[in-house]
Amino acid sequence: MKNIVNNYSMIVSVMILILVTSCKSESKFKFIPLDKAEYETTIDGKKVGLFNLENKNGLTVQITNYGGRIAALWVPDRDGNFKDIVTGYDSIEGFIGNTNYFNGIIGRYGNRIARGKFTLNAKEYSLAINNAPNSLHGGNVGFDHAVWNVERSTKDSLILTYLSPDGEEGYPGNLSVKVIYSLNDSNELKIDYQAETDAPTVVNLTNHAYFNLAGHDNGDILGHILMINADKFTPVDSTLIPTGEITDVAGTPFDFRIPAAIGERINADDRQIKYGMGYDHNWVLKKTGNEMSLAAKVEEPVSGRVMEIYTTEPGIQFYAGNFLDGTIMGKDSTSYKYRHAFCLETQHFPDSPNQEDFPSTVLNPGETYRTSTIHKFMCK
Ligand code: GLA
Repeated sequence: MKNIVNNYSMIVSVMILILVTSCKSESKFKFIPLDKAEYETTIDGKKVGLFNLENKNGLTVQITNYGGRIAALWVPDRDGNFKDIVTGYDSIEGFIGNTNYFNGIIGRYGNRIARGKFTLNAKEYSLAINNAPNSLHGGNVGFDHAVWNVERSTKDSLILTYLSPDGEEGYPGNLSVKVIYSLNDSNELKIDYQAETDAPTVVNLTNHAYFNLAGHDNGDILGHILMINADKFTPVDSTLIPTGEITDVAGTPFDFRIPAAIGERINADDRQIKYGMGYDHNWVLKKTGNEMSLAAKVEEPVSGRVMEIYTTEPGIQFYAGNFLDGTIMGKDSTSYKYRHAFCLETQHFPDSPNQEDFPSTVLNPGETYRTSTIHKFMCK
């Protein structure tokens, strides 16, 4: 019996290897990348531009140093046709006005801090309440609206730095941040985050990319098949602040251990689903420490595009675009409608500064904050 099971799992593994292959690299239909000139401007005396990373397969990532935002991400489908699979704008003005955090670097603290307050070394700090009654994604002007310094830009990497001054958005300590985007020939887009501080503070950095693997202008994401490598998630209250519990996903609409369509249970009669207006929750990733491990995998059956996400972080926020309402006019005159894109934000858990039992987000002088996330693209 054991042998039969072993043989069976070997056959399945081989089949998966055959099915998940690299995408054809010759583009049948050439794509036209975003025009760099449309991103050239000066904000607060600092130069803003658009920087392209490209690998030997033609996979292309276009990033602006305004908020470190991924403006476009061109990925082939199973037939070698390239599509831009992130939301965005034809020019920089759109990102300047964007309040949905489109594809930006989120900081100083990704996701919510309850009532915008936390205590560190007996001192209470107050943050902007920009998502009443809480503080969200760094406050009124988060890192996604900062002009980052371009330390180095090559065909395969972009190094951005930003000095967040002491007291910015209420956070203590001068925080010196470095974010490195790099692209290799295995279709892996890696984001490395580093930070140092001169006073105790809290840090939780992520990227808020909105994906639609069928193409940014290709309708809703409900048919995408999602796997999240997590046995547990952090349930929230009605303001989307974690209750502090760590709950099993088994038997709930939050169980994505076996791949399932995003749309299958998104409207389930479930209190957590109601609070999130769909999925807008943090999953507790299955891992032993802060090793780089598989967090999630998404497949879009029609195009065959597959994205795997690996991270050193303990959590991932899966947000199904529940606040998109068609009012944003983006690239190629696309209006981004309800659930037309999804986010998988690798992170420490929301509200960790107020939750003793969650992994700590405190950074002290002399320490270096380091986390990394990889987005790997394949075809099926
Ligand atoms: C995160 C939050 C969501 C929403 C989006 C941006 O994913 O958890 O509630 O605010 O960012 O709109």
